[in-house]
Amino acid sequence: VTPTDGTVILRRAEPGDHAAIADLHARSWQAAYRGILTEEFLSGEVHEDRRRVWERRLAAGIPDHLYVQLAWQGSLLIGFVCVFLDFDPEWGALVDNLHVAAESKRRGIGRELLAHAGRYVAAVRPNSPMHLWVFAENLNACRFYNRMGGTPVEHTLRAAPDGRMLPEFRYLWRNPAQAGSQACDAL
Ligand SMILES: CC(C)(COP(=O)(O)OP(=O)(O)OC[C@H]1O[C@@H](n2cnc3c(N)ncnc32)[C@H](O)[C@@H]1OP(=O)(O)O)[C@@H](O)C(=O)NCCC(=O)NCCS
Repeated sequence: VTPTDGTVILRRAEPGDHAAIADLHARSWQAAYRGILTEEFLSGEVHEDRRRVWERRLAAGIPDHLYVQLAWQGSLLIGFVCVFLDFDPEWGALVDNLHVAAESKRRGIGRELLAHAGRYVAAVRPNSPMHLWVFAENLNACRFYNRMGGTPVEHTLRAAPDGRMLPEFRYLWRNPAQAGSQACDAL
């Protein structure tokens, strides 16, 4: 499959994927968090910050509690979702990151990745809810999560990667298997 072929393939991450994920993660933060995180962070340490995080998460082997699903178009990584199982006794699995490359947005890839994550959580932890944090100012992502059947259950200040405290929403899926499903669209 070449990058010009529109076919999108989803697969679980492997240790060798850490650099490609870090690169997409940093570029997505630069595009989506401009005006939310400081310009200094976004134009400076963001690449090194994400490189360190993904090397630590994946390079030495992927632990059992970590689920990372990738979307590829040919040799281009165009999206990923990362979930930590058993993250919180009350709120369950944490969707720590969900990103789709700017050029590939609004093609249903975010929905597909979130639905995969939800089905995985439901399969391996049948009674676990699933949650995530999103910057309150990230209106596009909030609209997306509303559409995916998530419920905003908490609004609080949290430490952001640029060192400031920023308002965030906690979104919850009590039934992760339904995240992103058509049934949620009717809500
Ligand atoms: C949020 C994000 C993951 C959504 O992924 P996506 O692949 O573009 O979303 P999808 O195409 O699956 O969207 C499914 C539905 O969600 C809703 N939606 C998605 N993006 C939306 C937006 N910007 N505004 C309003 N609704 C939106 C729509 O109803 C859409 O269906 P439609 O295109 O048929 O109208 C993606 O925009 C992204 O990576 N953003 C930057 C990074 C980010 O903010 N991540 C979240 C961090 S918490």
